[in-house]
Amino acid sequence: MWKHHAKFERHSLVLLIGILVAVAIGGLVEISPLFYLESTIEKVQGMRPYTPLELAGRDVYIREGCYLCHSQMIRPLRDEVERYGHYSLAAESMYDHPFQWGSKRTGPDLARVGGKYSDDWHRQHLADPRAVVPESVMPPYAFLAKKDLDYRDIAQRLETQRKVGVPYTKDEVAHAVDDLEAQADPFDSRGTALKKRYGGKVAQRDFDGNPERVTDMDALVAYLQMLGTLVDFKTYHAEAPENQR
Ligand code: HEC
Repeated sequence: MWKHHAKFERHSLVLLIGILVAVAIGGLVEISPLFYLESTIEKVQGMRPYTPLELAGRDVYIREGCYLCHSQMIRPLRDEVERYGHYSLAAESMYDHPFQWGSKRTGPDLARVGGKYSDDWHRQHLADPRAVVPESVMPPYAFLAKKDLDYRDIAQRLETQRKVGVPYTKDEVAHAVDDLEAQADPFDSRGTALKKRYGGKVAQRDFDGNPERVTDMDALVAYLQMLGTLVDFKTYHAEAPENQR
């Protein structure tokens, strides 16, 4: 054995090939299971793709760089779970392209901020964070309430998500504009069809408090208010793998 070892040490090309073989074996062991495993994400009840309005809100969130100060991943550590709620599940970001886990928390984690505050609180907070949290260092985003949401390409945005694996149906893509407008207006009769497509729990409200227009604020608040609300943790039980029971 040591005789052969000398060969590797003296000839750089042989050493290089040796390294390549060793690394390739390691790589195969890591990568090849992904090809035959049906899914690496445990299916969880309640998960659904974003509605068009929520997806548009998520785009505003990304455009404004909210992820630079906010994470969306609660780690399974006691302090995090006590502060933010149940730790994040892989399935909860399965429809996120790109994911919004973030890498820095200047502000708190937002993975379960949905339903924590009223729409009105969010509107005030986004317009002027220090009006509701005096010590806040978050910048104001008052302009969002004055800016009409540009959703002319919302069907194409759903279609793009479909291409990367989000299971939007042809029907959902075709009615993206209807669904978006319906969700921002509690009196819009197209809301029935919206709820048929995305489930009865979808919130249909005037999120920005201005019934005349659909603004960036409508979309962003709709998105914030659904974060972390899809999985019902009263009925969810993490299943221990077969061999650990
Ligand atoms: C410069 C960093 C920074 C940026 C950028 C930022 N935030 Fe914040 N955010 C904070 C800080 C700090 C707090 C905690 C104080 C407060 O509530 O204002 C906070 C709090 C929040 C809260 C309340 C969370 C809770 O659980 O109390 C929400 C919601 C929020 N931000 C949303 C947003 C959104 C949406 C954006 C993008 C439009 C954004 N933030 C951009 C720093 C930031």
